[in-house]
Amino acid sequence: MEKIRISNTQGLKLEGTVRISGAKNAVLPAIAASLLTRAEVRLDNVPLVKDVYTILALMKGLGADYDLQGNSLSIAMKKVLSDEASYEQVRAMRASILVLGPLLARYGKATVALPGGCAIGSRPIDLHIHGLQKMGAAISLEHGYIHAEVSRLHGAEVEFEKKTVTGTENLVMAAALAEGETVLRNCACEPEVSSLCELLVKMGARIEGLGQDTIRIQGVKELGGASHKIIPDRIEAGTFLVAGALCRGDLLLTDIEPGHLETVLEKLRIAGAGLDLGPDRVRVTGGADIRSQDITTSSYPGFPTDMQAQFMVLMTQAQGTSIITETIFDRRFSHVNELMRLGASIEVSGDKAIVHGKTPLSGAEVMATDLRASASLILAGLIAGGQTLINGVEHIDRGYENIEAKLRRLGANIERITG
Ligand code: EPU
Repeated sequence: MEKIRISNTQGLKLEGTVRISGAKNAVLPAIAASLLTRAEVRLDNVPLVKDVYTILALMKGLGADYDLQGNSLSIAMKKVLSDEASYEQVRAMRASILVLGPLLARYGKATVALPGGCAIGSRPIDLHIHGLQKMGAAISLEHGYIHAEVSRLHGAEVEFEKKTVTGTENLVMAAALAEGETVLRNCACEPEVSSLCELLVKMGARIEGLGQDTIRIQGVKELGGASHKIIPDRIEAGTFLVAGALCRGDLLLTDIEPGHLETVLEKLRIAGAGLDLGPDRVRVTGGADIRSQDITTSSYPGFPTDMQAQFMVLMTQAQGTSIITETIFDRRFSHVNELMRLGASIEVSGDKAIVHGKTPLSGAEVMATDLRASASLILAGLIAGGQTLINGVEHIDRGYENIEAKLRRLGANIERITG
């Protein structure tokens, strides 16, 4: 069993430059979009994280050929050989659901396992299914699988009851090859959704309303190949920004898009971090005093749920009480008990975590239960006295490229051990 060990870094000051990788949540739909064409899709700035290898294995099973050289990926689905995403694949990564819309649009048939439970909340996929049904798909749920079939999808008006990122992405991809016009309302406006739409437009899709909550798609008969650069990972960037603020650091983050981080930057400013913004970079400096504040997660451009756990660590070091409200997922507080093992004072009441600061943290053995929880435990380990051992590191590998190496270069004493 692999663990991450962070050693006695109390008083650590992180310093240096860190290059932020491409966004996990942008590359996954971009890879799924290659299902929509026989031609080659080329993606640059691909982050080398486990979820990418998981979706590539799934795509290979469906019939794709790909070549990954460094951070550049060429992928082509000349012929769809299978229409199935198995339970094993979907259980390993819920985003496997992203093949449902494109498979159905290109091949007329898809069999995708129902994702089931998840560490951060109930996460149903009813909105994906209802949308595809409105576009003419016959969908049945049997033996834990979604069976979807259609001769050709047709355009429809779909209003999402709730904003859903992968739900919006699935329906945009499906609508790109549907007959006629699809109007999607109450869409998720995350930059990852817009980036997917940009790729689809390069492939020949007719889409209006990029980045807005109403997206109009005129279906076309065929899409072609395209080259696309994956946008920077705003959550990886946010995680390093918190590291800088937390460890009295002086960090320069490069290859980022500060415009995607406005709410996070605003919260860091309120916390007292120094921020110096360039067109594709941000310098963060952390001071001795961190200020408490309340935070409520919401869909973009609000404060991202994927940064909630990392900010909770920052608030354990702020003077005073902070109330953190999680509105996106119903069980995304699994890091709280682990942070308490390290000495944090946090109470959970329904969708709120009440953080009492400032408490010194002391190293202990802890368990990571999901990707962002594991990022928060690494951040906590950086300021905890003594040694912190983090179990469940497979979660961090899903979404952070080389996090230990990046932190080591900034001065952290962090390593991966077996045992
Ligand atoms: N929802 C429904 N029905 C649906 C779909 C969603 O009720 O059919 C609910 C969910 O249960 C949740 C809310 O809508 O309460 C929003 O969920 P959403 O569908 O937007 O989440 P997602 O698309 O499954 C993506 C990211 C997550 C990120 C969320 C929210 C990808 C691959 N995943 O998930 O990323 O937390 O959006 O921004 O894009 C992560 O990277 O650690 C991660 C979990």
